[in-house]
Amino acid sequence: MEFEMIAKTFQGLENVLAEELTQLGANNIKIGRRMVSYTGDQEMLYRSNFCLRTAIRVLKPIKHFRATSADEVYEAVKAIDWTQYLSNDTTFAVDSVVYSTEFRHSKFVAYKVKDAIVDQFRENTGNRPNIRVSNPDIQLNMHIAEYDCTLSLDSSGESLHRRGYRQEAVEAPLNEVLAAGIILMTGWRGEADFIDPMCGSGTLPIEATLISRNIAPGVFRKSFAFERWADFDAELFDKIYNDDSQEREFLHHAYGYDNNRAAVAIAGQNVKAAGLTNDITIEFQDFKDFTQPAEKSIIVTNPPYGERIKPEDLLGLYKMIGGQFKHQFVDNEAWVLSYREECFDAIGLKSSLKVPLYNGSLECELRKYQMFSGRYNEVRSEGRQIKSEADRRQMAQKRRFKERRAFKQGLDESDEEFKARTERPRRFDREDRPRRADRDGRPRRFDGDERPRRFDRDGRKSGGFKKGGRDLKPRDYKKGNGRRYED
Ligand SMILES: C[S@@+](CC[C@H](N)C(=O)[O-])C[C@H]1O[C@@H](n2cnc3c(N)ncnc32)[C@H](O)[C@@H]1O
Repeated sequence: MEFEMIAKTFQGLENVLAEELTQLGANNIKIGRRMVSYTGDQEMLYRSNFCLRTAIRVLKPIKHFRATSADEVYEAVKAIDWTQYLSNDTTFAVDSVVYSTEFRHSKFVAYKVKDAIVDQFRENTGNRPNIRVSNPDIQLNMHIAEYDCTLSLDSSGESLHRRGYRQEAVEAPLNEVLAAGIILMTGWRGEADFIDPMCGSGTLPIEATLISRNIAPGVFRKSFAFERWADFDAELFDKIYNDDSQEREFLHHAYGYDNNRAAVAIAGQNVKAAGLTNDITIEFQDFKDFTQPAEKSIIVTNPPYGERIKPEDLLGLYKMIGGQFKHQFVDNEAWVLSYREECFDAIGLKSSLKVPLYNGSLECELRKYQMFSGRYNEVRSEGRQIKSEADRRQMAQKRRFKERRAFKQGLDESDEEFKARTERPRRFDREDRPRRADRDGRPRRFDGDERPRRFDRDGRKSGGFKKGGRDLKPRDYKKGNGRRYED
């Protein structure tokens, strides 16, 4: 049976997500603001969670309705037969995201939804299901745009950017969803060496290698919310989990360098946890010492922006980057995610593509630099293409993005996207790492330098996170004290 689904993403990644969904075989794909809606069956729902690299979460709408007051929301929610989804023994939680002049407080809307559900159970059974904010059995998502309301089941649970391989993070790690989106935008799929000369915790080389080998990002996850649904089809999900028929070899190699020894150690641990040590080399190296690689290569990197990591000479750093591209990366292309115009200016090279992308709360740009052995004018006079057709199409997105700039102010603190951008990655040590198999109480071995292998459910391995990090309150973030997810 086909039903509607909504995959949420970061602003600027909607087209990449739609492309991923097309490849997955989704139907009726429609691009929206920070989301893509589509239809498919149960298998599509599971595959979306397991395979999509640029989705933050996947929702399954259960009711669309219009409401002009909180009481109308209450009545509409109470009219749903909740026994389809919940029982007195199920715990649930409600998240709400509101962009409306009528409904100003998302928490109040969430209370109304909870009240309606609890009241229905109490009236019918004399008892009620429990509300549990962390790790509930059923997570509901209420979205209101002016008077249009959508109530959905959240099929993902923990944000999908939490792949499960990250052991430690550096000061300003790139969100995994954003990293994957950037790589997919470059068009690179593994046909040349991949280099991040300022790799921090190694997110870009790891996501790149997963892409090149076509390894589903969900293979590292401990669990998905849909596994607790009453209609969960374990056999179907096992089939998806165990299907590695689409995986392929990475015929080139990925390199991550950093001039911070702590970052190099962390990136090494993350690569090991992802089981990718054969494909990725992590080394200590200042980019100023980088020399022309022998193999055809691509650089994708996000240098410090001076927001969180503050190099002494920020513009000098960018000048050096430009010089290295020009002299040590000849006949290759480099992609840089950065924030300040003056940083890009300091690179001193003409970019052939500029793609706007939000990184945390910062409206950044991803710029592409194509280095030729000849001078730019000579290259043009020879009629060599600098901007490809794909580049031109991507450039057209920029206008669309700018038109939506006002939306930045509307970013709701309760929105999962907001949380995904601002959440601090949690740390865990190996002993505390939750394992999939804990559910049946059987201990599992973890040999570290191995990506989880595909076993049957009882034998499935997993990564995960210990709940150790301080959860950032949106309030801190607003004051500017909060940690930005990225630099
Ligand atoms: C914004 S962080 C990169 C984060 C990374 N993408 C991640 O996901 O963790 C920038 C990194 O550049 C590194 N860096 C700064 N100057 C450098 C240089 N001259 N050579 C190499 N790395 C440098 C910093 O140590 C830092 O780890």
